[in-house]
Amino acid sequence: MIFKASKENILKAGELIQAGETVAFPTETVYGLGASAYNPTAIAKIYAIKNRPTFNPLISHIAEVDFLRDYAVTDERVLALANKFWPGPLTFILKRKDKNPALDLACAGLNKISVRMPNHPVALDLIRAAGVPIVAPSANKSQTISPTTARHVQNSLGDALPMILDAGACQVGVESTIIDVSEKQIYLLRAGGIALETLEEFLNEKVLISDGNPNKPSSPGQMLRHYAPKYETRINVVDPLPDEFYIGFGKMACDLNLSVSGDLQEATANLFQMMHLAEEQTKKSKIAIAPIPNTGLGRAINDRIKRASYK
Ligand code: TXA
Ligand code: MG
Repeated sequence: MIFKASKENILKAGELIQAGETVAFPTETVYGLGASAYNPTAIAKIYAIKNRPTFNPLISHIAEVDFLRDYAVTDERVLALANKFWPGPLTFILKRKDKNPALDLACAGLNKISVRMPNHPVALDLIRAAGVPIVAPSANKSQTISPTTARHVQNSLGDALPMILDAGACQVGVESTIIDVSEKQIYLLRAGGIALETLEEFLNEKVLISDGNPNKPSSPGQMLRHYAPKYETRINVVDPLPDEFYIGFGKMACDLNLSVSGDLQEATANLFQMMHLAEEQTKKSKIAIAPIPNTGLGRAINDRIKRASYK
């Protein structure tokens, strides 16, 4: 059920999380399906509701940087990144410090833990109300397009949830950037809401792109088919076919335009919403997407649509 994200409803949602329930809530990236990081039974519910085939590790959402101290192994570089980019769409993979066995499922048995502080007042209030880190994958069925509105969550997960907190559309519109900062060399595991270039500039060092090689840290978000719409999807399309619903970028004739002015931030915010609309329309039986520049946030867009088009 969808509830307005009022003060009372956020408090109620916090109580539900303490009681071992799952609650969907807005973040600046996408809507998340949350549970207490310390409640394996509740986390198992997340996997069941999402229909996730295996236990992937989940991102812990926290509301204060200080919380990191007992949770994960940090250093000056990590704290500098956190102070600069949190709250915001940046997730760290760190060595796990908190040895409480209740956390094992959140980490899927790995000795690393992923953490971020979302830049959304409702998410932050909810974490504080729950009094625990909230683990949250995107609030949609596994392998479908991520939700950027409460209605997307309702359409995907339906009545399996006691509460969906509604605070309108997500501002960023793609998931967080994930970097592994647990070793000297930093790896990008998932392109997302903060551009690689922005991180490198701040750090003044090279961030390597992990290719999902089994010898490197890997993220199940690297699965080749992910974020998939139900219609066959082609990317880098300049001349769409008559049966293709065309999602454009920049000034052009198309069914929907990610950004007429060619603004990558606007395009990122529109991406999932427009993919949902393309999937809901019934006039065309396929989807085509225009070329998107592969720099800055364009990298996150290209990553998602490449997976959406994978056969
Ligand atoms: O923007 C986001 O990050 C959203 C919102 C809700 O915060 N969350 C999200 O979660 O996208 P999810 O579960 O859909 O994606 C998290 C990714 C998964 O691919 C997971 O495998 C990877 O992060 N991951 C989490 N912990 C990890 C770890 N310890 N080691 C490697 N990969 C990890
Ligand atoms: Mg997801």
